[in-house]
Amino acid sequence: MNKRFYITTAIDYVNGEPHLGHAYEKVIADVIARARRSLGEEVFYLTGTDEHGQKVQQAAAAEGKDPQAYCDELAARFQALTRVLNLSNDEFIRTTQPRHKRVVTALLNLLHARGELYKAPYRGWYSWKEETFLTERDRRPDGTFDPAWGEVREIVEENWYFRMSRYQHWLVEYLEKNPDFVQPDYRRNEVLGFLRSEALEDLCISRPRARLSWGIPLPFDPDYVNYVWFDALTNYYSLPVALGDAEAARPLGEFYRAEAPPTEAPLRLWPADIHVIGKDIVKFHAVYWPIMLRAAGIPLPRQVLVHGWWQKDGAKMSKTTGNVVDPFAVVADWGADAFRYYVVRELDIGPDGNWTDAGFKARYQAELANGLGNLVNRSLAMLRRYRAGRVPARSGELAAEAGQTAAQLADHWRQNRLQAGLIAIWNLVARANQYVDQTAPFKLAKDPAQAARLDEVLYTLAETCRVLAVMLWPYLPQTAERIFQQLGLTGSPARLSEAAWGGLPPGHTVGEPQPLFPRRD
Ligand code: ME8
Ligand code: MG
Repeated sequence: MNKRFYITTAIDYVNGEPHLGHAYEKVIADVIARARRSLGEEVFYLTGTDEHGQKVQQAAAAEGKDPQAYCDELAARFQALTRVLNLSNDEFIRTTQPRHKRVVTALLNLLHARGELYKAPYRGWYSWKEETFLTERDRRPDGTFDPAWGEVREIVEENWYFRMSRYQHWLVEYLEKNPDFVQPDYRRNEVLGFLRSEALEDLCISRPRARLSWGIPLPFDPDYVNYVWFDALTNYYSLPVALGDAEAARPLGEFYRAEAPPTEAPLRLWPADIHVIGKDIVKFHAVYWPIMLRAAGIPLPRQVLVHGWWQKDGAKMSKTTGNVVDPFAVVADWGADAFRYYVVRELDIGPDGNWTDAGFKARYQAELANGLGNLVNRSLAMLRRYRAGRVPARSGELAAEAGQTAAQLADHWRQNRLQAGLIAIWNLVARANQYVDQTAPFKLAKDPAQAARLDEVLYTLAETCRVLAVMLWPYLPQTAERIFQQLGLTGSPARLSEAAWGGLPPGHTVGEPQPLFPRRD
């Protein structure tokens, strides 16, 4: 049984409605997942929701709701978003599910048995909003804490600690030896810089039940619940174990018993190939998580891939100021593929981005409607007008360019260069539109002596549309399928190998062109 290419996203807090940042992250993970499938790999894409902890408990209380009922409502919204964005996720994990909690409990028991956990009193400054203890380093020059931390109070309590500090040296070496573990490089350098200059402290992994009840109880000390980040990070691992990945479960040994033998064919998923996350949670994924796994004797994921943050109109998005982009509204108005196109084309994985409605409309009009949409529309319309929709004999005037684009794409996809891939595809779109202008089929059609030449041009254009659909599929799956339908093809555009030139059979009759991206003024 082959291990699948296993890709995950951050699991979103259910303390509010899904927003642009959530949608962006899930789209880039989806494009990577689909691109790998297109390259012929078996892929498993996991996303989900993070439902325990202070933030969620407070949000539920603020609405006067039972936390589980509150989580159920919001989790449904995040699940709706996966459908609206046409994500190809294979599973959706919720941290309140028993299948997840059982694995967290087993992992805690294992670490406890291995001597990695201890109980000790702690006095410190606590941010209620971010649910974390702050250190002296978090103070501003004037001695106060940033208001972003919310209310900060000094508290003393006994808690359970994870012996993280003993792994600092190991982690530095690991990051040095595995340059791909955190990407892009500048994020990896930030982590290394931090680890080389500051002593790593042991991690408090419990919260007294009296202060926070909405969490997974510590199996060896039920007066405490598990710290939400320990619980949340474990989702990446708990899902494979819950689905019957026996290799993944092995390190848990006697501490984990499968509830029932898995009914479907067992999977091989762990270790994850890519964790896609935002820049604000690098420390959790590049420091806490590898150390948790190392301490438990579980293999490490291959890569933490860090994306930047979106602003809107140059300012931080915020519900209170109303400066937000609602992904549901954008998709309802413009379609999922227009949303997917804009966010991937506008922002490479890494830097921060800025959403503007004007920028969105400009790309829609120029690149989707006038670029791709117009090419497909006129290619099909001319084939129908001049040849009753019948595909002429093969010819290959753009074959070399299409072949080069496909080769570049495969390379970009393997390196997660999604934006560069789209740019390469749009170079081919532009080339094909230029080819229409240069060959002027509407003139050729008026001259019976040019019939053979017109056949060449029409084949080249129709075939370019088919090839483009294949290339586009990971990015714009609905558009790719619509192009196939309009070409009258029954197959699927989901394999890059299908981009090989000449797939459109002579004599085949194409269907009717429909605007892919209706012009809007
Ligand atoms: O951090 N632009 O959840 P979350 C881009 N539950 N990405 C953004 C963004 C923005 N404006 N705002 C948020 C959590 N994100 C934890 C994760 S994982 C084991 C637990 C990204 O709902 C953010 O960087 O606050 C993160 O990757 C994801 O959305 C979820 O954020
Ligand atoms: Mg956040």
